[in-house]
Amino acid sequence: MHKLILAAASVAALALVGPASAQAPIVIKFSHVVAPNTPKGLASEKFKELAEKYTGGKVKVEVYPNSQLYKDKEELEALQLGAVQMLAPSNAKFGPIGVKEFEVFDLPYILPDLKTLRKVTDGPLGTKLLNLLDAKGMTGLAYWDNGFKMMSANKRLVTPADYKGLKFRIQSSKVLEAQFRTLGAIPQVMAFSEVYQALQTGVVDGQENTWSNIYTQKMHEVQKHITVTNHGYIGYIVVVNKKFWDGIPADIKPQLDRAMKEATAYGNGQSAKENEDALAEIKKTGKSEIITLTPEQDAAMRKALEPVYQDVAKRVGQPLIDEFLKETRGATN
Ligand code: LMR
Repeated sequence: MHKLILAAASVAALALVGPASAQAPIVIKFSHVVAPNTPKGLASEKFKELAEKYTGGKVKVEVYPNSQLYKDKEELEALQLGAVQMLAPSNAKFGPIGVKEFEVFDLPYILPDLKTLRKVTDGPLGTKLLNLLDAKGMTGLAYWDNGFKMMSANKRLVTPADYKGLKFRIQSSKVLEAQFRTLGAIPQVMAFSEVYQALQTGVVDGQENTWSNIYTQKMHEVQKHITVTNHGYIGYIVVVNKKFWDGIPADIKPQLDRAMKEATAYGNGQSAKENEDALAEIKKTGKSEIITLTPEQDAAMRKALEPVYQDVAKRVGQPLIDEFLKETRGATN
């Protein structure tokens, strides 16, 4: 266990048993790994603004962006220990704490667009998945979008064969590992905050991410080519420490629920535009070639990645994949 997390957790525990003042606000520390000017950064700031407004200052939300407090893996441990109260890790990051079902969102080409995604997140499957988090000491509150991922490298990535032998940074997801192995590439799990340097120094050759993450981390400055693949999705699960959340007084909770609902609608309403804007900024710099695939090249990528589904079925079970596909493709199976 990380020393910092333990120290922070004991401070949090002391705060709980310390002398309570009627005026002291409830503090929600919201830690995340991306820049403030990203879909998650903006949604978390919106939640802060609304939560503080609706509770009349009885709740104070402190947002810590850019892995300032914790890197990817430490975040969820810190939440479970109560060192932070709220996070929004990507789907991919729940596998390592034993909730592998969220990895289904990482399957290549499983979502044609964000509208279809809503059918999953706003429907019974979305609720069922959030409920899995209870057993891990956390409560799932909402699904926040980032958007679709692109592939980048210092080599032009056009055909599946172009990926062969290259090292790609991945989030800690077995699906993403299978995705790159299927292409004959070498996946390497790495914290988000370390990606820029790893690309710059050649520790890895490439990576996959959304336009907003590529732009705000300046990855386009150290990647010669970015291919518009839209091959996968990055979204977030907003989670809170369950004990903390259950302990929030009943007269405050509805205001926080309202703030979360509205921050979610706000964030999800503009994430696509933020990614489009980031793409426009990347184009303006002229530092990276943006490669668009022909329909045939796109089809070849889809075909090459089909075997990932069988691989992942072994982990999360075919019924879960079928349930997801039923929502997204109308397949009945
Ligand atoms: C990544 O690690 O690439 C992303 O999950 C970062 C994020 O939170 O968007």
